[in-house]
Amino acid sequence: SVVTFISHDGEKREAPLEEGASLMQIAVDNMVPGIDGDCGGEAACGTCHVIVEDQWIAEVGRSGPVEEEMLAMNPEREPTSRLSCQMRVSESWDGLVVRLPEFQM
Ligand code: FES
Repeated sequence: SVVTFISHDGEKREAPLEEGASLMQIAVDNMVPGIDGDCGGEAACGTCHVIVEDQWIAEVGRSGPVEEEMLAMNPEREPTSRLSCQMRVSESWDGLVVRLPEFQM
């Protein structure tokens, strides 16, 4: 199974989905540009921001309260924004597509 990250300038990068890992970890392991994960996955830095494609948000779920505190500080967030470190990957996410925001290039 695979996840696709689309950079702000449209470049697609696929990475293998690993059940139980965080999406941030998968991005970092596969050197996806724009996902830094500076805080190591503590929902404290905001450098792992992704925008989930609309058709995936029901499956993946929206941001929780801790995540929301960090996202709320970012005026450029979108309704389907998530911190990828807070996204625990499930096998049912095969084919997931997320976009990277412009401010994170
Ligand atoms: Fe820091 Fe996700 S890695 S908020």
